Amino acid sequence: MSAVVGQDHTPAMATIFARLASLALLLPFCFASPAASSSASLPGSTARVAGLNAVGKAAGKLYFGTATNANEFQDDAVYGAIINNTRQFGQITPANAMKWEYTEPNPGNFTFEDGDVIRDLARNNGQLLRGHNCVWYQQLPDWITNGTFTYHEMIDIVENHCGTLVGHYKGEVYAWDVINESLNDDGTFRENVFYNATGSDYIPAALRAARAADPHAKLYINDYGIEGTGNKSTALQNLVRELKSEGVPIDGVGIQCHLTVGQLPTGLLENFHDFGQLGVEFAVTELDMAIQGNVTADALEQQKQDYATVVSACLSVPACVGVTVWDFTDKYGWITNGHADIWDDNLQKKPAFDGVVLGFESH
Ligand SMILES: *[C@@H]1O[C@H](CO)[C@@H](O)[C@H](O)[C@H]1NC(C)=O
Ligand SMILES: *[C@@H]1O[C@H](CO)[C@@H](O)[C@H](O)[C@H]1NC(C)=O
Ligand SMILES: *[C@@H]1O[C@H](CO)[C@@H](O)[C@H](O)[C@H]1NC(C)=O
Ligand SMILES: *[C@@H]1O[C@H](CO)[C@@H](O)[C@H](O)[C@H]1NC(C)=O
Ligand SMILES: *[C@@H]1O[C@H](CO)[C@@H](O)[C@H](O)[C@H]1NC(C)=O
Ligand SMILES: *[C@@H]1O[C@H](CO)[C@@H](O)[C@H](O)[C@H]1NC(C)=O
Ligand SMILES: *[C@@H]1O[C@H](CO)[C@@H](O)[C@H](O)[C@H]1NC(C)=O
Repeated sequence: MSAVVGQDHTPAMATIFARLASLALLLPFCFASPAASSSASLPGSTARVAGLNAVGKAAGKLYFGTATNANEFQDDAVYGAIINNTRQFGQITPANAMKWEYTEPNPGNFTFEDGDVIRDLARNNGQLLRGHNCVWYQQLPDWITNGTFTYHEMIDIVENHCGTLVGHYKGEVYAWDVINESLNDDGTFRENVFYNATGSDYIPAALRAARAADPHAKLYINDYGIEGTGNKSTALQNLVRELKSEGVPIDGVGIQCHLTVGQLPTGLLENFHDFGQLGVEFAVTELDMAIQGNVTADALEQQKQDYATVVSACLSVPACVGVTVWDFTDKYGWITNGHADIWDDNLQKKPAFDGVVLGFESH
């Protein structure tokens, strides 16, 4: 696999220009001039010295970041050196450490040790921290999953959890994903344990508790299936408008972007512009790009173009503040065999790395 990455993406210059031309067709708004500068160092993406966060910031974004787990940077020095390089990453998201099952395993009994390790990494490196997350219907402790709660009991539980979690990290978190995945794919509310007890009232309750606990953290709703235009995107936009009209604190939308190579959702750019009209910021929060089938040179090239398309779409909307990948290497990516990330299993850069740079340099 790594042999393919290391040796096999050395296309002739004619092919490179053909590919850039086809990318330009995909990104009609974005290619004021040919992206010649970013192709100059091809082949050999490893020859590129640019850092993804440095390039993203130069393009006007706040950060390029990654999700991580503590064992990865504690036990793997090669990985650790990359994640500590602020030219590559200006923002860190704990992939798991701040989820409910870890932070409040028993009612009212909070444990922050794991989350603090990720916080310390970001703090030591001077990287922004995104908090993940207050309320999600998965990775919950049994006491929630198996419990039966009245409306008021559940509102208290949500307020106490979000208030305590966000309060523990007060002043240290750029943005919190307060709500993760509250909607079904058709845009209706998901009938999870919170919804069943409170209807959608747990959402403003969580947001208000988070605001009270850390007035300066940006509060986000995060979801998947809202990358392209469609009913779910419309529903989430309506939810944000409704929350705003009711005076509920809401500052941003997280568009996850767990995507498949060669199958980008329709209307991605248009949809990003629609989210840009809401009067809140948004971010790409969990980007990865799974390859279906064999990892061929063509698949890696398509993956590069698809990364470029998503990053370029963020670049084209001022309200999109940054892009976070859901870990940066196939070695630790959550999609088994998807080879969805921008560094390979051996922590070598893939063509997708150049795709991110191309996206940030596409205007
Ligand atoms: C990365 O930074 C962390 C936190 O400061 C530190 O513990 C770790 O040793 C660093 N890793 C490398 C490889 O520099
Ligand atoms: C709190 O949780 C920790 C970790 O699960 C456990 O060791 C401790 O005994 C618990 N304390 C109480 C008071 O439940
Ligand atoms: C949100 O849900 C997704 C599942 O699609 C999960 O991968 C991610 O970790 C969750 N995000 C947070 C902040 O918990
Ligand atoms: C919660 O329910 C699951 C199955 O529904 C069961 O396996 C588990 O033992 C239960 N946990 C507690 C603490 O009751
Ligand atoms: C929520 O309620 C629906 C409808 O009664 C039910 O099907 C679902 O299992 C419930 N979910 C949880 C997590 O309690
Ligand atoms: C979107 O919602 C409309 C009704 O609001 C429905 O007619 C349509 O089938 C839905 N589209 C999809 C793709 O589910
Ligand atoms: C993937 O590679 C295997 C082994 O080389 C081959 O047998 C298979 O046909 C390939 N699959 C596809 C979809 O190309």
